[in-house]
Amino acid sequence: MESPLTIVILAAGLGTRMKSRKAKVLHEAGGKTLAEHVVDTALELTAPGSIYVVVGHQAAEVRDTLASRGVQFAEQTEQKGTGHAVLCCESVVRERAGRVVVLYGDVPLLKASTLRKLIELQTSSGAAAAAISTFLDDPTGYGRILRNERGEVVAVVEEKAATAEQRRIREINAGIYCFDAPLLWKHLHDLRPDNPARELYLTDTVEILNREGHSVLPLVVDDSSELLGINTRIELAAVDRILRQEKVRQLMLDGVTIERPETVTIDSQVQIGMDTVVEAFTRILGNSRIGAGCHIGAFSIVNHSTVEDGVLVLPYTLINTSHVETGAQVGPYARLRMENYVEAGAHIGNFVELKKTRLGKGSKASHLAYLGDSVIGEKVNIGAGAITCNYDGKKKSQTRIGNGAFVGSNSTLVAPVEIGEGSYLAAGSVITHTVPPDALAVARSRQVNKEDWARHRRESTVPASNTSSGNL
Ligand code: UD1
Ligand code: MG
Repeated sequence: MESPLTIVILAAGLGTRMKSRKAKVLHEAGGKTLAEHVVDTALELTAPGSIYVVVGHQAAEVRDTLASRGVQFAEQTEQKGTGHAVLCCESVVRERAGRVVVLYGDVPLLKASTLRKLIELQTSSGAAAAAISTFLDDPTGYGRILRNERGEVVAVVEEKAATAEQRRIREINAGIYCFDAPLLWKHLHDLRPDNPARELYLTDTVEILNREGHSVLPLVVDDSSELLGINTRIELAAVDRILRQEKVRQLMLDGVTIERPETVTIDSQVQIGMDTVVEAFTRILGNSRIGAGCHIGAFSIVNHSTVEDGVLVLPYTLINTSHVETGAQVGPYARLRMENYVEAGAHIGNFVELKKTRLGKGSKASHLAYLGDSVIGEKVNIGAGAITCNYDGKKKSQTRIGNGAFVGSNSTLVAPVEIGEGSYLAAGSVITHTVPPDALAVARSRQVNKEDWARHRRESTVPASNTSSGNL
């Protein structure tokens, strides 16, 4: 039987170099927090019950962010170094035999396939530990790997403690290790804070294990970008760029056309169907799902929304926490502000805003309208400039519009109000009462025409400059 695997993820640090009030692992790249990236990789290898996240700075927020994954937590109340962080979960992890893999919460691009190789190297060699390393042109900031003549790792020296000669070493420690569990727990207590930072460095276990006659093997990873550790916002941006490039590449391989892919921002959880065209400069975020054969126009933003097959989203449209059914058309310059449901074949045109509104099958609001807290039936026509007055300064009220109703341009629907099926609202009406089905509602003053009034005024003897303000 395979020996059990425990994964410990260190995520307690503040990340001073981020210059942020937010804990480093809560910063996002590719649409997910760094903590989520590392935990999701760990979940590819083992069950949530075998994954322990060490939390400290903003522990409650980190726990909340990861709660849905079902992983375990240990607390490091004072951040006394990476070795101390592992010690903080000793009481809960020690009884688990086998191997302990330690990951740092600020190394988010690591692949599960690389971890499998690391575990395989440690297991098959019987070494006390295996650690991932890579060669960097600029190794500044990382711990450097010192090897013996057999190629084994004998020590990791941190940048701050390294001699000038050691700083020239280009092979760096990635912060990813697989330990033989009993040996780790036996020697972790031998760590001493004898370094400039006065911390317990996990990396010092390498030297201790060697001193005790054990060996530590390196797994050299060629693609060093996978091992990028995030300590500053510059590295955060670099990782974000890599994740997004990878996402659009995968989408294109899966049959999505992406125009000018370097300009779009698509989060890692987003799904997009075949033959959908995504134009330049769009942002598709959160857990959005876009169907097949859609067109997402330039500069549009789709956030936490579902867009079914064959939907046409014209440029500069914002769709937020909403659902758009198949064959609908939205935009240009439309705003689905929040929690809207647009049924099949409906049309929403320029400068139309919807909020908590359901727009029925085949209904149209083509220009300049505000529809808030409304339930609108099928084949309804909303004229230009029509608005719902859903807020009286104290509370929000609903507007209901029946199937086939015609809402004339510039109508003002004062909610709560109900517009019957097949009814007709005259343009410019202010509707404050229920309109029965099939009725015509006219709620505006009648037009009065004063014959020849304008001509008389033009021809009057009084010069224009002597008249009052000119207002009628
Ligand atoms: C660490 C390594 C370094 C390696 C680099 C790779 C040590 C001493 N150094 O340096 O050799 O090249 O990672 O990216 O391990 N953390 C805690 N509690 C603490 C301190 C840190 O949980 O008391 C967590 C942090 O939240 C972070 C991770 O451990 O996720 C790494 O800490 P960080 O301070 O970033 O270490 P580096 O200086 O990057
Ligand atoms: Mg780091």
